[in-house]
Amino acid sequence: MTRLIDPFQRTIRYLRVSVTDRCNYRCFYCMPTQGVQWEAREEFLTFEELTRVIRLFTELGVDKVRLTGGEPLVRRGILQFVRQLSALPGLEDLSMSTNAHLLSDQAAALRAAGVRRVNISLDSLDPAVFRRITRNGDLRSVLAGIDAALAAGMEPVKINMVVMRGLNDGEIEAMFDYAVSRGADLRYIETMPVGEAGIDGTGHFMPAVEILARLKRHAGAELVPAKGGKGAGPARYYQVGEGPVRVGVISALSRHFCDDCNRVRLTAKGDLVLCLGQEDRVSLRDGLRQGLDDEAMKELIRAAIARKPRSHDFNEDRQRVALRHMSSLGG
Ligand code: GTP
Ligand code: 5AD
Ligand code: SF4
Repeated sequence: MTRLIDPFQRTIRYLRVSVTDRCNYRCFYCMPTQGVQWEAREEFLTFEELTRVIRLFTELGVDKVRLTGGEPLVRRGILQFVRQLSALPGLEDLSMSTNAHLLSDQAAALRAAGVRRVNISLDSLDPAVFRRITRNGDLRSVLAGIDAALAAGMEPVKINMVVMRGLNDGEIEAMFDYAVSRGADLRYIETMPVGEAGIDGTGHFMPAVEILARLKRHAGAELVPAKGGKGAGPARYYQVGEGPVRVGVISALSRHFCDDCNRVRLTAKGDLVLCLGQEDRVSLRDGLRQGLDDEAMKELIRAAIARKPRSHDFNEDRQRVALRHMSSLGG
C-alpha cells in the first residue's frame, strides 16, 4: 500500500484543510485587534482543486481529513464540497473544526453530507468572558450549535477549551460538568504561542498538569489514562474514575507530541504547511495551475513531505513566537 513517510519515519495519514482564512469571530489569541487582511478570494483553491488535492492525498495513504478555517462554515458551497469528499473511497474519517456559530442551522445537513463528527471551540460558559475572548462571539448560538450537532447524531462531539490563566481557568470545573451533561468529549488545550497568543496572550499559559490536578480535585476521582487513549490526534485522554466520561489534554508545550506527528496542513491558498510551528511550506497551487498531471502532483507532495521538520520549537519559556496567524491555518 502507498504511504507517505517523512524523514523521521512518521507516516502521514491526517490532512487538515483550511477552506477559508475568514472567520465570523475575532478570538483575541487568534486574530489581531485591528483584524487581519483577508486573502483575496481568487487566491483560494476552488472546491474542484481542493477535491483533487485531497483525492491525491487519499491515494497516497491519507485516510483522515479535517476541514478547518478560519471558520469553515462561512465558505459558500461547503455542503456540496463535503458531499464530493465523502465519495472518496480512501477517506475514512471526515471531520470539521468549527466555532459552531452557524452550526445550529447546518448540523443536520452536514451530517447527511458526510461529516460524521465535529470539534467545537468553546472557551467559556460565561457570556461576558466568552465575548471578551471571542470579541464578537455569541455564546447562545454556540451552545445551540453544540446541541444541534448532538441531535444530528454527530459522534463524538468534542469541545475544545483553550485554558488561559486569569481569563477562563476558573471554569475548568464548570466546563467539565457541562460536557458531562451533554455527553460530549472535552479537551483542555494549553495556549500555544502562535499568532496573537504569542504576543499578548503569553501571561495566560497554564500547564496541563495543573489543569488535570484541578479536575481531579473537582471530580473526587483518579484520572486514569484511557484505553486506546492516544487517538490519532494530539490529545491524551483520561477516564474519570470508573465512569464513561473521557477528558483529553492537548499539551502542545509542556509535553509535545511531535514524535508521533501524523499530519500536514493545507491552507486555503493551496500551501502545504508541514508543521504548525514552523514556516516550511510548499505551494501545491502552482503545480495545479501549471497543469501537472496526477503523478507529477504526487511527486510534488512527496517532495514536500521529505521536508517535514522534526518538531516545532515552542517551549514553556515561549522564547520563540511564531507570528503566523492561527486563523489562516485553523489550528
Ligand atoms: P481529532 O483528534 O481528530 O479529534 O482532532 P484534533 O484534536 O487534531 O483537531 P482540533 O482542530 O480540534 O485541534 C485541537 C487542538 O490541537 C488545536 O489547538 C490545534 O491547534 C492543536 N493541534 C492539532 N494538531 C497539532 C499539531 O500538529 N501540533 C500542535 N502543536 N498542535 C496541534
Ligand atoms: N493555542 C491553542 N489553541 C488554539 N486554537 C486557536 N489558537 C490557539 C492557540 N494559540 C484552537 C481553537 C480551536 C482549535 C482548532 O485551535 O480554540 O479549538
Ligand atoms: Fe475564528 Fe477559530 Fe480563530 Fe476564534 S480561534 S477567531 S473562532 S478561527
